Amino acid sequence: MKKYALILAAGKGTRMRTELPKCAFPILGKPMIEYIVENIEKTDIDEIVAIVGHKKEVIMDILKDRAQYAVQEQQLGTGHAALSAASLLEGKEGTTFILPGDMPLMEYPLMDKLMRAHEEMGNDLTVVTMVVDYPKGYGRIVRDEYGTVKGIVEENDCTESEKQIKEVNSSVYIVDNKALFETLKQIKKNDRKGEYYLTDIVTLMHQNYKVNTFVVRNPMVTMGINDLYAISIAEKYLRDSINKGHMLSGVSMVNPETITIGHNVVIEEGVWIYPNTSITGNSVIKKGAIIGPNTEIKDSIIDEEAEIRHSLVIDSKVGKKTTVGPFAHLRGHANVGDHNRIGNFVEVKNSTTGDDTKAAHLAYIGDAEVGERVNFGCGSITVNYDGVKKHKTIIGNDVFIGCNVNMVAPIAISDNVFIAAGSTVTKDIPKGSLAIARNQQINKEDYYKYLIKPKPSEK
Ligand code: UD1
Ligand code: CA
Repeated sequence: MKKYALILAAGKGTRMRTELPKCAFPILGKPMIEYIVENIEKTDIDEIVAIVGHKKEVIMDILKDRAQYAVQEQQLGTGHAALSAASLLEGKEGTTFILPGDMPLMEYPLMDKLMRAHEEMGNDLTVVTMVVDYPKGYGRIVRDEYGTVKGIVEENDCTESEKQIKEVNSSVYIVDNKALFETLKQIKKNDRKGEYYLTDIVTLMHQNYKVNTFVVRNPMVTMGINDLYAISIAEKYLRDSINKGHMLSGVSMVNPETITIGHNVVIEEGVWIYPNTSITGNSVIKKGAIIGPNTEIKDSIIDEEAEIRHSLVIDSKVGKKTTVGPFAHLRGHANVGDHNRIGNFVEVKNSTTGDDTKAAHLAYIGDAEVGERVNFGCGSITVNYDGVKKHKTIIGNDVFIGCNVNMVAPIAISDNVFIAAGSTVTKDIPKGSLAIARNQQINKEDYYKYLIKPKPSEK
């Protein structure tokens, strides 16, 4: 039997009050809908169909060819949205797993479990429900006196007593595909809202098919996200569960509620992470590294036992036992070698450094290829930009760069070179040289008497 996933993602998300369509809104840096698709891909579902409409290009650009698309031109409700997939799915044998595009926290083991339960119970429709303390905004599950589910009533249509029901619809359904499309066509427009409600399939199928519910134990994972406050709750939940996973695998976190780790980040054991730190994107933190406090790392690799404190590392790589910070900035494919020191207020952009190189304070290393055992004095910089183009600086091994040196690129500095403090070097420097490029000092003796004039009262 084939299995299909049907994701409803055509809505605008009016309650979000954001420009981005709701299902594209990021949580910990990743769009909501991507969480859903990533998890579906780990189940044995054969085909994924996404219903898109409002700003469909945004959603399609996120999912690319990971889903097939059916367009719902006008957003006339969840029932109408599901029916929009008719051209792709109608009449096919199989089971369809319907998911709303605003429910990012359900993981694949639960998806598998729900599909298994549907099969084992021999249901034609399984409605996934949860029990919540504050049911406001959710459709309420109405059961008959035998406990059988009779229907779902939306908040707007609830009587006062129905409003008290705490079992609500998660908007996840597992349903026989043929029966689904036969039923969707029978849904009538809801008068009050002017929409076709997918929830009506419950009442419609209740008569001729086997309809059952599955109550999930943790209502957080089936939480629907309708506004930015809900985003913050989901983010907190996700952050806590990601952090817990890392801590149980040997990562120490100090004040973990202030630490944000993205979904795809890999952290090896023995790593310490200090407060107010975020590590996102495809970052990898290797054994024994120390990260934070107050550090942001994105799409970067931090090698074993490196230390990054109070710093920003974006799209870069930091070698073994290298220390970065405080207040350093690595970006644009900076690739710093092992045992380096990138210290206070140092920026490294689009540059590589060999092992044992140091820039301890106030340096800018941009568009440079730097060798091993190079020392950048305080205030030394590569002058890489002429106002139009960026130029390259090449520095060999064992080079000592004095304080406040400007290296005007393009320039090549060979091995074993010394550059005198305060120099502005514009020409290549051959191996083994001392380069001095500054005016000679003149001392004018006894000059003070011309500078310091006696005060009028002293005349
Ligand atoms: C829906 C359910 C409600 C349930 C809740 C769970 C209905 C009528 N109500 O309400 O019973 O408790 O989810 O979170 O189904 N969408 C479309 N096209 C449309 C309208 C919506 O694709 O025309 C998509 C949205 O993008 C969204 C999903 O369907 O991803 C759910 O829509 P939303 O408006 O959030 O439904 P709720 O009011 O939350
Ligand atoms: Ca919703």
